[in-house]
Amino acid sequence: MTADSSTTRHLIQEMLDPGICVLKISRPEALNALNTDVLIELKDALLKIANTPEIRVLIFTGNGEKAFIAGADITEMKGKTVEEGVQFAQLGHEVTKLLELMPKPTIAAVNGYALGGGTELALACDFIYASDKAVFGQPEVGLGVIPGFGGTLRLSKFVGLPRAKELIFTGRRVKAEEAFQIGLVCQVFESNQLMPRVIEIAQTISKHSATAVAKAKHLLNEFAETSGLNVKLDAEAHAFGRLFETHDQREGMSAFVEKRKPVFHGLS
Ligand code: COA
Repeated sequence: MTADSSTTRHLIQEMLDPGICVLKISRPEALNALNTDVLIELKDALLKIANTPEIRVLIFTGNGEKAFIAGADITEMKGKTVEEGVQFAQLGHEVTKLLELMPKPTIAAVNGYALGGGTELALACDFIYASDKAVFGQPEVGLGVIPGFGGTLRLSKFVGLPRAKELIFTGRRVKAEEAFQIGLVCQVFESNQLMPRVIEIAQTISKHSATAVAKAKHLLNEFAETSGLNVKLDAEAHAFGRLFETHDQREGMSAFVEKRKPVFHGLS
């Protein structure tokens, strides 16, 4: 399989020497939010990238100035049933598992808003660099749901359990500098330096033995206990889906779409 630069409806893929693939999500009308179509395109592209030997390093980023990914698409999610909620989370998991487990490094270059599913897709990459304009966050509980694309599992691996709880329970936004301080990102660059610097780092990696790097990635993942990954992600997908029969999910997502504050019920 050969690796060429290409564009699909929501993805721009560029090849740089030696063996670096830059994959950009591009859905400007919704700040690159992830609907089913985008997730399916992404899954197909990642499968091809995983199976293309010429690609040695993947850089994953968002197109445009403002957003990496502004989360899962709330307008699409609003009316989902429990079963559809589970399936949507499972599709997100297929994408995040490809990023996490493919036998080549995946680097997130976060260029702007990375909220909800945006933070979760970045967390599925091997590591994250951010522009000084990046903003992270897991705002799902403010919409009546929980992180459903692996955030309940992966955030604590980056920032530790108490801080992951604090971020998920408050839903607060984390700017680039704080993201660096808490270990969420490896380094912060001025926004016009983000891609050149991340490409330089990818070039360093791509000159090393791809076999040795792949083996190191596999062992680092195994030793960080990804062996229980499927069971844990399945538990998350079902917990996420079950929230789609609650008042609070309907209220939270309707409030976002109607541009008003939600009014939640007590514990149900
Ligand atoms: N799902 C669907 N549409 C989204 C979206 C999402 N996650 N995030 C942004 N959009 C849409 C907005 O509805 C808006 O569409 P419109 O122009 O048709 O009204 C457009 O993208 C631009 O967003 P807007 O909110 O006007 O931009 P902003 O600069 O005022 O705010 C954000 C940017 C990212 C802070 C804000 O869009 C936001 O909070 N998004 C949702 C983030 C979120 O909760 N994600 C987790 C989902 S589980």
